[in-house]
Amino acid sequence: MSAEAIVVAAAPGRVNLMGDHTDHTGGLVLPMACDLRTVVEGRAGGDVVRLRTTWPGQAAEAVVPLRPSELVGLEPPWSRLVAAVVAEVQPDRGFEGTVTSDLPIGAGLSSSAALANAVALALGFAGSPLELAQLSRRAEQAATGVPCGIMDQLASAAGSAGHALRIDCTSLAVEPVALPEGLDVLVVHSGVERSLDATPYAALVADLTAAEVVVGPLREAAPDALAALTHDGQRRRARHVVTENGRVDALVAALRAEDREAISEVLAASHASLRDDLGVTVPEVDQLVADLSSQPGVLGARCTGAGFGGCVVALADAGTALPEGRRAWRLRPSDGATCAGGARPSWPGTPRR
Ligand code: GLA
Repeated sequence: MSAEAIVVAAAPGRVNLMGDHTDHTGGLVLPMACDLRTVVEGRAGGDVVRLRTTWPGQAAEAVVPLRPSELVGLEPPWSRLVAAVVAEVQPDRGFEGTVTSDLPIGAGLSSSAALANAVALALGFAGSPLELAQLSRRAEQAATGVPCGIMDQLASAAGSAGHALRIDCTSLAVEPVALPEGLDVLVVHSGVERSLDATPYAALVADLTAAEVVVGPLREAAPDALAALTHDGQRRRARHVVTENGRVDALVAALRAEDREAISEVLAASHASLRDDLGVTVPEVDQLVADLSSQPGVLGARCTGAGFGGCVVALADAGTALPEGRRAWRLRPSDGATCAGGARPSWPGTPRR
């Protein structure tokens, strides 16, 4: 071990309150960074990046060369994302350390975006939060082949305590939106685990791309324009995106006005659209949303993240009990990624020009 100072890089997961499957067509999203996070701690040195983890169910160690040439065959699987980040950051020295996390994997809370952001910072990345998110998104796409949008990485990089983030995925403008004091964000696991690269995510993105060939950017499309789409599946998926973009601003307005009825309505409409138009929910998630929505104190609930299983998010009166017998969290909107120690000033520093 070298005499380098210890580096501690931490990056949160995210809960998406509104705007799912809108980021990859440049739409609107409303995620919040949460108080579950991944921490990479260690020292620069040596000629490989060697990380050990205690993450449940994952092989304990990833060892990645400084100039990884092939990601696909790397084992264990999580080392592919580490390698993709190493390829992006191109550190001139290795790193040896640990990865710890309280984020569940495959639950729709962006454990992989948190890992990518934390590894990039630990390896010395020193750009802006947006540049960090762009780097981590490229790494995720390279490691998994999934054409993901930028929501997860940007929410994790740019989070703001007490706030959700309204992100315009075309301009990449990030606007903090205060969450009312009296509301809790509850996240409940459906019990159905999934990994993004084993879902029809890419097929869904392809449907939306095909729809945009006919009607132009969905971000700008009026609902009426979608009648030009003759393929039923593409039309319904496009309708989800167009209406979901509208629901992001509807929820922003409802949160600002603390309008409980409007919050309930927009959450219910979003879940119905994810289920009926987009087709990304599963029966366990639909049932959980129905159960939570009828619980006293819960204003509304919806599937959150990519879908196909994973978690449900509910907005509820402060202090509402978490459901028993399930993995469930009361999550606070939190600050984004941080990094301290090592040979450079704490991150986030001055954005690189
Ligand atoms: C995954 C992707 C994101 C986004 C969500 C769905 O989390 O990584 O880019 O598309 O699914 O909203």
